Amino acid sequence: MNAFVGYRLILALLPLVNVVTSLEWKNSAVLDNNFLVLWTPGDRDIVFEVQVKTQGYVGLGFTRDDRHVGADMVIGWVDNNGQVHLQDRHVKDSNKDPQMDSSQDYYLLLGYENKTHTVLRFTRSYDTCDPRDLKITNDTMQVVWQYHVEEPVSAAGVLPPHGAVRGSRPLYLVQRDSPPKRTSRNQEVPAVKTWDVLNQQVKLPMEQDTLLWCRVVEMPQLDRKHHVIKYEPVIQPGNQQYLHHMTLYECRGKEYDLEEAAASNGTVCYQPDHPSLLCTSIAATWNLGSEGFNYPPEAGYALDPDSGPRYYMLETHYTNPLLDNFITDSSGLRLVYTNQLRTHDAGILSVGIDPNWRHIIPPGQREVVSEGHCVTDCTGQTIPESGVNMFAVIMHTHQLGRKVRLRQIRAGEELPPIASDTNYDPNYQEYRRLQRPAKVYPGDHLVAECTYSSESRQTITLGGLTTREESCLVSALYYPRIELSLCYSLPSLPTVLQSLGIQKLKQGATPVIIEAPADLAGMTLEERLMRYNWETSFQSFQEATHRGTFKPLCWNRKGELLPNTDVQEAHYPRILRPYKETMMPCAKKTPRNKLSRLFGEDGDLPAPVDPDSDEANAVERGQLVRSKVSRSSEGPVAGSSGVTRAPVVLVLAIIVAAFR
Ligand SMILES: *[C@@H]1O[C@H](CO)[C@@H](O)[C@H](O)[C@H]1NC(C)=O
Ligand SMILES: *[C@@H]1O[C@H](CO)[C@@H](O)[C@H](O)[C@H]1NC(C)=O
Ligand SMILES: *[C@@H]1O[C@H](CO)[C@@H](O)[C@H](O)[C@H]1NC(C)=O
Repeated sequence: MNAFVGYRLILALLPLVNVVTSLEWKNSAVLDNNFLVLWTPGDRDIVFEVQVKTQGYVGLGFTRDDRHVGADMVIGWVDNNGQVHLQDRHVKDSNKDPQMDSSQDYYLLLGYENKTHTVLRFTRSYDTCDPRDLKITNDTMQVVWQYHVEEPVSAAGVLPPHGAVRGSRPLYLVQRDSPPKRTSRNQEVPAVKTWDVLNQQVKLPMEQDTLLWCRVVEMPQLDRKHHVIKYEPVIQPGNQQYLHHMTLYECRGKEYDLEEAAASNGTVCYQPDHPSLLCTSIAATWNLGSEGFNYPPEAGYALDPDSGPRYYMLETHYTNPLLDNFITDSSGLRLVYTNQLRTHDAGILSVGIDPNWRHIIPPGQREVVSEGHCVTDCTGQTIPESGVNMFAVIMHTHQLGRKVRLRQIRAGEELPPIASDTNYDPNYQEYRRLQRPAKVYPGDHLVAECTYSSESRQTITLGGLTTREESCLVSALYYPRIELSLCYSLPSLPTVLQSLGIQKLKQGATPVIIEAPADLAGMTLEERLMRYNWETSFQSFQEATHRGTFKPLCWNRKGELLPNTDVQEAHYPRILRPYKETMMPCAKKTPRNKLSRLFGEDGDLPAPVDPDSDEANAVERGQLVRSKVSRSSEGPVAGSSGVTRAPVVLVLAIIVAAFR
């Protein structure tokens, strides 16, 4: 019996079960040119589909770092009899096949193969309770993939020895922006215009593998305020491989400097001999793996000729590891804007440490924690009584960053963090869309907390803008827009001195000379920084920086310090009720009676298949019907329903196999 008849059988059975309604995927990512992954996060489970241009086996997996070892993998294929195989495995040794898990926690929903592709749809829980599997969380996940032109020769799944194509990439799987749902077909689409902020034939250097290129541009001539409702990358065909990230910053500062910068095609960023422009607030950012960003329907980013910034800087990070010659690039970002204004202006609030040498990261440490504060006075003066709603957050450190959190303290109580990533990857910066907006009220104290690993460094790292220096910033998109723009802090000089064991500096000396304690007297501050024994004194350094005072720096959108916040020293907020993370006990799902699940519970009757529908035609053309997991038009998809349906398709597969 050929597979074709099998398809007909499935089709015949479909009306019995609730699997044929259209499925709209929430997220997708092209992992390599042959590998597309689509997924929809539900309440407790995520449904995935991989569409891979091969007729061999395919594999998708998850790790915390970009090595394959330790990866939690699912391997699947469609064999010559049309039977679909899906195996939950893990990578123990990079030279060996991923090993089979004793607990199989990925559930096949559907699988087929056409002339070119293998398609597998499956679901798993965020936390499968199997130590061999990786929990899927809000943290940055490294997604690994693998595929081969051949499939395993037996159902046991010994993989072909050589020739697998592999790759990995960091991705947010859960807190991810996605295009707005089309609610109805004839919904009015606002007339939009586009502003392309593009590079002008940037020549990649032939002797360097990275280039950070900065170009200042003036916003388009507009007669009144418009709203940017989304942005997306514009990538010069063929150049995707050279692009690492592109970020558009709002610029403040002297009109003349900005005008002059905008007249050129750009320069290498952050050169010491160039005047540094004050372009720090992120307006838009793209990173490998991202498709852009969509503002929520209630808010847009204002392009306002009267009050907004008029100049922007596009920073493009190019990589050219193979030193390919004669590469030029004109990629950039496209901002889509409209004059049909949305209810709210979205704003960007950055919380963090002012980029300054007083932000000190000792060398050779596994974990160094730095904190930037947005104090009560600053939120109190600027946030309306009704609060603001943060809907997306982007974290920013340079190469040493490993964990980042945006903490929120209200009247002595620490609330759950607005955003948190314990697996932060400094090379992957993208807005994470919060599933529910976080409310921030006047008087809230926010802390951007960055944890660095400086084990790779032999010398001290200081705060600053260049990539060798460090940074700790969390920028949040929110609405309605307020005056506060950058809400930073800077460790006070007494804090810095105390953390270095210095009691007193000599008045008015240049370079700065230490007076007390006696054993350091006469030493310059710089020498102290260089010679400090971090090995023995790291703990006391860390405590002094954590407990010490800091200078709040709250800037409004015009780049002025807010009045009455210009105090020299502020203190760490008192936290009377600390936040305790509740660890949910792991509850393993016991597969209940599959048939009762199949026909019981959510027994909404499926629509019969229309013989002229795409599905039916697909079968006629010899492709397999793509049975669809149902979803309601609103609310989370799949979730428990995805799981109830997992056994459904298994049962189908069994029935089909029995008929062969
Ligand atoms: C096979 O399926 C894939 C994934 O759905 C699709 O992109 C491709 O066009 C199909 N190929 C053929 C020959 O039908
Ligand atoms: C992600 O964060 C949100 C808000 O903090 C939380 O409700 C949700 O459970 C988290 N999701 C996962 C998969 O951890
Ligand atoms: C910018 O680049 C374009 C395209 O390469 C070139 O025609 C133009 O002369 C350049 N302008 C400046 C100011 O260098």
